[in-house]
Amino acid sequence: MKKRIAVLPGDGIGKEVTKGAVEVLQAIGERFGHQFSFVYGKIGGEAVNTEGTPLPDETIDLCKGSDAVLLGAVGGPKWDHLPVHLRPEKGLLKIRKELNLYANLRPTNYFESLADSSPLRKEFIEHVDMLIVRELTGGLYFGKPSERVNQNGKDAVVDTLFYEKEEIERVIRLAFELARKRGRKVTSIDKANVLESSRMWREVAEQTSKKYPEVILEHMLVDNAAMQIIKNPKQFDVVVTENMFGDILSDEASVLTGSLGMLPSASLSLSGPYLYEPIHGSAPDIAGKGIANPIGAILSAAMMLRHSFNLEKEAKSIENAVSEVLEAGYRTADIVSSSYKRVSTSEMIEEIRATILDNEATINIMNCYV
Ligand code: IPM
Ligand code: MG
Repeated sequence: MKKRIAVLPGDGIGKEVTKGAVEVLQAIGERFGHQFSFVYGKIGGEAVNTEGTPLPDETIDLCKGSDAVLLGAVGGPKWDHLPVHLRPEKGLLKIRKELNLYANLRPTNYFESLADSSPLRKEFIEHVDMLIVRELTGGLYFGKPSERVNQNGKDAVVDTLFYEKEEIERVIRLAFELARKRGRKVTSIDKANVLESSRMWREVAEQTSKKYPEVILEHMLVDNAAMQIIKNPKQFDVVVTENMFGDILSDEASVLTGSLGMLPSASLSLSGPYLYEPIHGSAPDIAGKGIANPIGAILSAAMMLRHSFNLEKEAKSIENAVSEVLEAGYRTADIVSSSYKRVSTSEMIEEIRATILDNEATINIMNCYV
């Protein structure tokens, strides 16, 4: 198979971790006989510095002309003082919108070997297999107006949570489609006791569920969900929710099974190309130190192989290699504790790469990924 991948490393540790994902994809190409080519584009603070905008048109064209996009992370205190249209985060929000990436898949999987890195006891997190489907191009992040206003002579501010019904329908439909192939349960998270948008969300979830009799639908208020994720995370299979709720809950869920640095994501559209990025940020405090965890980015590459290229065996090969390397005791700083071998970003990448190239057969030792 021949594929062209746009790589947007972005800022901070984005560069270090995407390098890992690229090297791992190269190893997959080598082992399974695929040709992946990589084209690089600028996004975020780096693009602001050199091009005067967080998302140059060339980057948009580069992505649209590729089969998939791999992104690192954007942002950092260097750019915090800039006006809002020049904030690195704007680049990320704009590329999501430009590529119509309406659904962001954020899996939280249990890694046996990382059970002791979780803040929760093993019995609570064992075999957690939860997939958050976050609506990504609407809701509170994109509604207009969103501005400072002068109301009756008073300084005030407004943000808007806006959805067309269709936007809600397509993401909820996707959640049901995914649930059908997994644990057959959708938890739709909203704030229907307060927000009108949530009441429409709930109504759409009810309507959609009629077409999927094999999938159980459950509604949960977002505040309760924040508690349930900690109290009983095993109850969740597929979770579907509004953009902002999903942003918050996915960070919360990520710590259950180890570290934010471990978790990948896939952002899907109706037509592609899809975009893949670790869910962590640019971590400016550790950038350039060679200690970032590249696994979130590497597992994002596995999601790319699965969702964009339909290469299930190859995706599993990455996931198995990650699992094996963790089992062998290799740990970056964020997941290390006393009895393990602490390694740098590049050593971790090398271990995973070498494991992929060494492994003859793919042994299924990972739990089920999406
Ligand atoms: C994420 C991040 C982004 C978001 C930021 C960087 C704009 O937190 O991908 O979760 O809020 O979507
Ligand atoms: Mg976030």
